[in-house]
Amino acid sequence: MKQQLEEIKSRAAAALANAKLPQEIDELRVRFLGKKGELTGILKQMGKLSPEERPVIGQLANEVRSWIETDIETRLTEIKASQMAARLESEKLDVTLPGKRPQFGAKHPLSIVLDEIKEIFIGMGFEIADGPEVETDYYNFEALNIPKDHPARDTQDTFYINDNILLRTQTSPVQVRVMEQKKPPIRIISPGRVYRSDALDATHSPLFHQIEGLVVDKGITFADLKGTLETFIKRLYGEDSVVRFRPHHFPFTEPSAEVDVQCFNCKGEGCRLCKGEGWIEILGCGMVHPKVLSNCGIDPEVYSGFALGMGLERVVMRRYNIDDIRLFYENDVRFLKQF
Ligand code: DAH
Repeated sequence: MKQQLEEIKSRAAAALANAKLPQEIDELRVRFLGKKGELTGILKQMGKLSPEERPVIGQLANEVRSWIETDIETRLTEIKASQMAARLESEKLDVTLPGKRPQFGAKHPLSIVLDEIKEIFIGMGFEIADGPEVETDYYNFEALNIPKDHPARDTQDTFYINDNILLRTQTSPVQVRVMEQKKPPIRIISPGRVYRSDALDATHSPLFHQIEGLVVDKGITFADLKGTLETFIKRLYGEDSVVRFRPHHFPFTEPSAEVDVQCFNCKGEGCRLCKGEGWIEILGCGMVHPKVLSNCGIDPEVYSGFALGMGLERVVMRRYNIDDIRLFYENDVRFLKQF
């Protein structure tokens, strides 16, 4: 029995020395010291021993038990230490390495100027309105006093989806949608994408952006239109901007005008930027046509209003002296980084 105990001790020593994981140590603890373990098995046979042998073997068995217990603790500590060392090695972090600077995006020039324009109009009590880009013939043309045979349709080369549905060629249909839904007083601007089947070149794109404006209330006059637009242009281009109203024609406004600002480059002398004109056209506007008001269920005998429409790309090209509209859509970082 003494020999069996010695053998258990040396088997345990060998097994513990080989163990590499804390789970293996736990298994060995059960195998040698557990209720059904090897050492317990020996102790169960103590009854067969003579009274003289019993205390000697008993003492030896206790020594073996405590030796195995100590060895288990030692091995466990060693294994945990080497696991920690391995982890520290594999997770080593060199804090002296230079960092990677995150790339920040920037606002697109169209968004920069659009946000500015929105701010100016919001400051004058306007709200932002929205409308669909896929429109019906009625909202894009008919309700705006552009019937089927009207020549204005030719100037807005339209992408038709079918006879009745099209990609809006202007933001003006939003006027109609707003007036149908809301009774005056109305003060909105509506920025958004518009589409025309123009070939892409330095000054034309089949997709571009417009900003529509609409004011309807009792007693709105052309003086309100002029005052609002002068204020807007001076806020956008500077207090010393010179503004000019030129008679024009739009089917949905009567009377209509185009608004020019004096060329800030040559101060009206004529230069390359204004193509020798001395003036730069900024937007179209006018008093909302009585037919358009009544098409939307607003009584033109009681209410009047003005409307305006401008191309965002043009405004931004003038602001930053950009000479090719395609730059806006190409996502070339070398271009975009400049704003
Ligand atoms: N919708 C016109 C266009 O695309 C621009 C415009 C002119 C809008 C005058 C208006 C306006 O609301 O009153 O050419």
